[in-house]
Amino acid sequence: MKRSEINAILMEGDAFIRSFGYVMPPFAYLTPEEMQARRGEIGGIVDARLGWDITDYGLGRFAETGLFLFTVRNGRAEDLTRGRGMLYAEKIMISRKDQLSPMHRHVVKAEDIINRGGGTLVLELFMSDAGGNPDSSAGVEVPTDGVVRRLPAGGRLALEPGESVTLLPGVWHAFWGEGADVLIGEVSTVNDDMTDNVFREPIGRFSTVEEDEPPLHLLVSDYDRLLG
Ligand SMILES: [Fe+2]
Repeated sequence: MKRSEINAILMEGDAFIRSFGYVMPPFAYLTPEEMQARRGEIGGIVDARLGWDITDYGLGRFAETGLFLFTVRNGRAEDLTRGRGMLYAEKIMISRKDQLSPMHRHVVKAEDIINRGGGTLVLELFMSDAGGNPDSSAGVEVPTDGVVRRLPAGGRLALEPGESVTLLPGVWHAFWGEGADVLIGEVSTVNDDMTDNVFREPIGRFSTVEEDEPPLHLLVSDYDRLLG
């Protein structure tokens, strides 16, 4: 993706999020220069990989296949191993109308995906077979706001604003906005996007950035290269 496209998506996404009354934490608005100058005190942001995450999954067609994410908080993998401490994470995301987040599952992370407003959020769901692949015959059972919903393999779950689903590790899911762009909340176990996403198709988790203008704000995927 061109940086100019990422910058534009970032500004549109920020305005969309604010239009629902959700206010981002102050670190969202640090400039790249401020992050570099304050590197010594923002280790908690960099190490937990908090911040902006705009991805086209490396496919170069953001409008068709992509997702806007901002990681607001994220715990520690060591705490997860210990079984106590900061075991949780939160993201705010935007699935645009008819914009696919491709089929994937998580190894460790359990996540609640919440429609926080806008259009209908549609999820296509499969259970895992013995080999960890999408099971094309097993029925799917997922908790939705305390009520178990049962769907056929590959069935579609439509979440209206306010509704949510709990996806346990191993439940395959793809999702998109229907009717309008959707503001999505994610409340989950500790999140590691470097290792915990298994995609059905051989695609990447992050975009490749072509620098055609300076970044407005750094993406999480810029941290290693630009912050060290
Ligand atoms: Fe997921």
